[in-house]
Amino acid sequence: MDFRICGNNGDLHHAGPNPSDHRPSLYRAACPRHIQPMAILKIARMGHPVLSLRAEEVADPTAPEIRTLVVDMLETLADIDGAGLAAPQVHVPKRVVLFRVPVERVSEREDDQPMGLTVLVNPIIEPLGDEIERGWEGCLSVPGMMGEVPRHARIRYTGYDLEGLAISREASGFHARVVQHECDHLDGILYPMRMDDLTRFGFEAEIRRLAQSEAAAAAKAREDEPEPELELQDADETAAAPV
Ligand code: NI
Repeated sequence: MDFRICGNNGDLHHAGPNPSDHRPSLYRAACPRHIQPMAILKIARMGHPVLSLRAEEVADPTAPEIRTLVVDMLETLADIDGAGLAAPQVHVPKRVVLFRVPVERVSEREDDQPMGLTVLVNPIIEPLGDEIERGWEGCLSVPGMMGEVPRHARIRYTGYDLEGLAISREASGFHARVVQHECDHLDGILYPMRMDDLTRFGFEAEIRRLAQSEAAAAAKAREDEPEPELELQDADETAAAPV
């Protein structure tokens, strides 16, 4: 995904033995202090066969090579300012994703909250309910483009972290969207394949303009709506009206 998100690495920041070392703990664990890790990985773009495969399950989420892969993916994600990344996007067909929920992407839903970085190995998604939400998405593997994608509004997802501990969460809003987007990469699915209206697919600059004008129109429509008190009054009157 490519939502141009800045920010720290959330969950990966916690106090280590050396408080002056502000690097995420994953870096500290994987690299001696005198080695500066710099592994910006090349991103596979739409059309590369690795993006069409079903990625393999990870036999051992605690394996050192998976940690190294995640450290490199983290470095890559920070470099490109993305909200999420899946291992196939860096040419590794394994079931590993990273994502975060930046504050600026959180929707108005009560249950949609910002969240730091999550590493999820062997994820499984289960939709909760039938509600479908549409939202704009971009993807580092489809650079320069954006599209409006229908997704399940609420999901439960499970998987493992790098310590081999089980993760199980419910998510909605952008959180649910980013998880579905990243996990689709593990099944060879890119977001344009989920779209049902290709008139809502286009170059990023055009789509941002379109999205802004639609958001402004929606805000104006909300302003023009009658006050909630009036609606209540109407409802009461209707209820009280003789039948
Ligand atoms: Ni993507």
